[in-house]
Amino acid sequence: MIREAVVVAHPNVALSKYWGKRDGAGNVPAVPSLSVTLSGLTTRTRLRWDAGLADHRFVLGGAVQARGQAPRVFALLDEVRASLPGGTGGAAFADVETRNDFPTASGLASSASGFAALALAATRAAGLEWDVTRIADLARRGSASAARSLFGGFVELDGTAVHPVAPADHLPLVVLVAVTTEAAKATGSTDGMRITMERSPYARAWLETAPHLHEELRAALLARDFDGVGRLAEASAMAMHACALGAGLVYWSGATIEALGTVRTLRGLGVGAYATIDAGPHVKVLVRPGDAAAARASLERTPGVLRVLEARPGEGARAVASEPPRRVEGQATP
Ligand code: PMV
Repeated sequence: MIREAVVVAHPNVALSKYWGKRDGAGNVPAVPSLSVTLSGLTTRTRLRWDAGLADHRFVLGGAVQARGQAPRVFALLDEVRASLPGGTGGAAFADVETRNDFPTASGLASSASGFAALALAATRAAGLEWDVTRIADLARRGSASAARSLFGGFVELDGTAVHPVAPADHLPLVVLVAVTTEAAKATGSTDGMRITMERSPYARAWLETAPHLHEELRAALLARDFDGVGRLAEASAMAMHACALGAGLVYWSGATIEALGTVRTLRGLGVGAYATIDAGPHVKVLVRPGDAAAARASLERTPGVLRVLEARPGEGARAVASEPPRRVEGQATP
């Protein structure tokens, strides 16, 4: 059996953050989150089930990754393989090639787009007629934020439940990504969350505060209140990082602080610019489309900022016509 699918998916940025998991199996977030799926940054994954292989073959950005290097990827593939028509589908294994046109594993949410693309490609190529909720569940177990990238626009993840809250055109918004490193982050989000919950004196405060910030942000989004969304998104990111700092986890670099300074300077000039930061040193800046050019120029002049990517609310993961993965240097294009 050889069946192939090519899927594209985009990362998402959480406006209200998820940080911390529920006890037990299943990779279930401890707090609700609300994200926006980003066009302009793209993961492209080609997957085929091939009876001629002795194990899955997983190639990320041109480099072969062994089972031990990508255990969650292999676990997802094993799970889908067990569901292949005819049990293990004539002993087929997956041949996967995936590429990101943005830095991998440095807090730019490549795991979100990566696991969303992988879950959709693996099930599509297998001919499984799973609905998007079931595919999102599979993706969530690889990386919880990946469940959100199955959907476009503004998306809520609450426990195991994931659903779109508003379409991509609900709130005119540009996300400027100030890239501050091309390197992989030192502490992945799973370890970072575990360390934070074990060691931070502020863990309880975060777990209590995050759902309130989330509810307020959701209301601001539904009211199309750009400044409310921005203010609450920045508050959520700051609270998450304050909690992580309490456990000794510093995801920021000097460039992160510089970029935060630029965002504050912009606000002082009357530009509605708001920062959010994930498990890495990059700063994502929310602005209205009309302010994007000026804000981008300011970020590009900021010490330590290597380049600035521009993203807008975009589509969920989807299958596309089969063609070889393509790397687009520099500027991110879908
Ligand atoms: O789903 P993960 O393991 O990539 O963790 C996501 C963690 C944050 O990006 C910091 C927050 C979020 O809700 O996306």
